[in-house]
Amino acid sequence: MVNPIEIKVRRLRKSDDRGGFQSGNIELDRFFHRYAGQNQFRHHIGTSYVAETDNRIVGFTTVSSAELTAEKLAKTFRRRLPDYPIPALRVSRLAVDERFQGNGIGKLLLKSVFELSLDIRDQAGCYGVVVDAKPETVAFYSRLGFFTLEIISGALRDRPEPVPMFLPIATIAQAAGR
Ligand SMILES: CC(C)(COP(=O)(O)OP(=O)(O)OC[C@H]1O[C@@H](n2cnc3c(N)ncnc32)[C@H](O)[C@@H]1OP(=O)(O)O)[C@@H](O)C(=O)NCCC(=O)NCCS
Repeated sequence: MVNPIEIKVRRLRKSDDRGGFQSGNIELDRFFHRYAGQNQFRHHIGTSYVAETDNRIVGFTTVSSAELTAEKLAKTFRRRLPDYPIPALRVSRLAVDERFQGNGIGKLLLKSVFELSLDIRDQAGCYGVVVDAKPETVAFYSRLGFFTLEIISGALRDRPEPVPMFLPIATIAQAAGR
């Protein structure tokens, strides 16, 4: 059991050793070992944040900017939104080392994403946080307030299908008191 207070979340550094990270999900591990660095430092298409304790990376999340369409948002929002693309922040990857799962680290990483979304809201605009959740993690995101977005029919889907989920910035702001 790890005390989440001892865990620090910070941006990934070039010098970080990512090789030992193991979440039990081969795709997520491969992404972190091979691509998280180049995506962040060379291509600038996604930034990773790591949870660290005792100089060891025990979790990571990768975020990038996203655009939502009013069509993609639930009916409740549709009426109040303009037709042009709406800025959002995407959680494109999230994983906790399997030896440390169940210690609040995933939640801690998402909290840092929420803080970031509020900073972006103020600096560039951000309507909320979006994630394509694996079916087995829908409950995890729901507990944090995410709700399921309508799926656009006809789109090519992975198997098993990810579930698009969304957390409005207003909800994040209210919880954070910002
Ligand atoms: C999903 C994952 C990131 C969760 O991280 P974690 O550190 O183990 O989760 P936490 O300890 O922060 O859990 C936070 C809360 O969610 C709950 N929770 C965790 N995983 C859950 C799941 N799969 N379903 C439902 N609830 C879940 C916890 O019980 C906890 O509840 P509480 O706040 O009431 O105590 C982690 O299990 C993981 O890396 N899984 C493999 C990779 C993966 O599937 N990533 C998600 C990609 S969409």
